[in-house]
Amino acid sequence: MGDRTLLLVTCGAPLAARLADGVQTARDLGWAPYVIPTDAAMPWLAELDLSDVPIVVGNRKPHEPRRTPTADAVLVVPATFHTLNAWAGGIASSYPLTTLCAAVGTRTPTVAVPYASAELTNHPAWTASVAVLRQAGVQIVDPQSGSTESLNPVESGTRGRIVREFRWHWAFDCLAPE
Ligand SMILES: Cc1cc2nc3c(=O)[nH]c(=O)nc-3n(C[C@H](O)[C@H](O)[C@H](O)COP(=O)(O)O)c2cc1C
Repeated sequence: MGDRTLLLVTCGAPLAARLADGVQTARDLGWAPYVIPTDAAMPWLAELDLSDVPIVVGNRKPHEPRRTPTADAVLVVPATFHTLNAWAGGIASSYPLTTLCAAVGTRTPTVAVPYASAELTNHPAWTASVAVLRQAGVQIVDPQSGSTESLNPVESGTRGRIVREFRWHWAFDCLAPE
């Protein structure tokens, strides 16, 4: 197990079904991953074997110690329409969102792989949120091509293929090597 702490935030969209191989890729690359799921991500995670990775759910209790070391990097895969907009707006209303807002505030290297359909991404908040996060130093990776320059909506009928063909290296390549 590596000694660089990776916080792997995951949200409620089909790409969450790839989380187990994201954990494996993280380990292969020398990271010690901690999974931080939103409530909406849980149905997808229930299908996976994540028994050997720490999963940090909900807020800690007031006297409970911190549950993760300080992050060396943060990935959010997938980032939903909801989480990306709330994050860009500085809304820390859940543990995953607090983690993401703090990553921006501490300038921790952070990569987001948004995953949302055009019916959501045509909302004007989306473009603004992506721009705010890029301006804050967050790297935004297209789930279909790995591009960090352009971001395309997920078209209906292509979800299964996008989930299958997504390559975790697209996200990890944005982080500095050990
Ligand atoms: C089957 C299913 C598929 C969904 N797919 C997406 C999606 O691809 N992108 C997205 O932004 N939201 C999607 N949603 C909606 C989110 O799960 C919902 O907005 C949720 O509140 C997001 O919460 P979170 O950002 O805290 O994970 C989907 C919901 C369901 C039930």
